[in-house]
Amino acid sequence: MKIPSIYLEKFFYARRRLVEIMLSGKTPDEMEVEIIKASHLLSPMVATCGPAGPNVAPLMVTFLPREQYVGEAIEELRRIRSKYWGSGPKAYRAAAEFLLEYVYNLERADPLRLATHLMSKGHTYTNIEATGEATLGILFPPDEGALELRAKASIISQGPVYEYVNMVHDLMHAVPHGESSHPWYPAAVFEVYEIYDNSYQALGKLVYRRG
Ligand SMILES: Cc1cc2nc3c(=O)[nH]c(=O)nc-3n(C[C@H](O)[C@H](O)[C@H](O)COP(=O)(O)O)c2cc1C
Repeated sequence: MKIPSIYLEKFFYARRRLVEIMLSGKTPDEMEVEIIKASHLLSPMVATCGPAGPNVAPLMVTFLPREQYVGEAIEELRRIRSKYWGSGPKAYRAAAEFLLEYVYNLERADPLRLATHLMSKGHTYTNIEATGEATLGILFPPDEGALELRAKASIISQGPVYEYVNMVHDLMHAVPHGESSHPWYPAAVFEVYEIYDNSYQALGKLVYRRG
């Protein structure tokens, strides 16, 4: 089955457009409005079930590069980090360019491999460790639709994906300011294997299953 266009258009490319807007010279106030408008896409609700009980938590996710590009992406992140550490707007511009090249570019990114970092060993961490499963929910407000992403989930505490996820986080949250507010955390990776269309027209129709 092909990746549904609603997933690519309303989730993947809608997030890319946010980065394009960032590069278009909006003021910080205007940018804040854009980020609020896109917040449902940046931090989906992540549901898990397991020893910690049925749980749901919003988690800020990114798309991972395809495996063959992870090393190259890390090299580029290292270059940006050393060149733009603490350099404010220039660092944001370099970050946006990286996002367009590696995160929102279907040649290099896998739109069905999402990742976050887990700042606590809370319910999500415990349930993923035990079951290897998670479901992500994305609402398109006010009532344009909703997608349910069922995923194989894993916690990764070392190696290239761990390094990549933390460096991407630092790209926006540490490099521009020249300081990190917290240490690196374990990554959680979500490999989407089924997508359901939960709009009130489709009522839970399966629209994608990994072949
Ligand atoms: C908008 C938003 C984004 C968040 N993103 C993250 C995240 O990326 N990583 C994380 O560990 N917690 C994140 N949190 C906090 C978690 O949702 C949650 O409160 C915490 O991880 C405990 O989750 P638990 O239910 O797994 O115990 C975020 C919270 C909000 C409101």
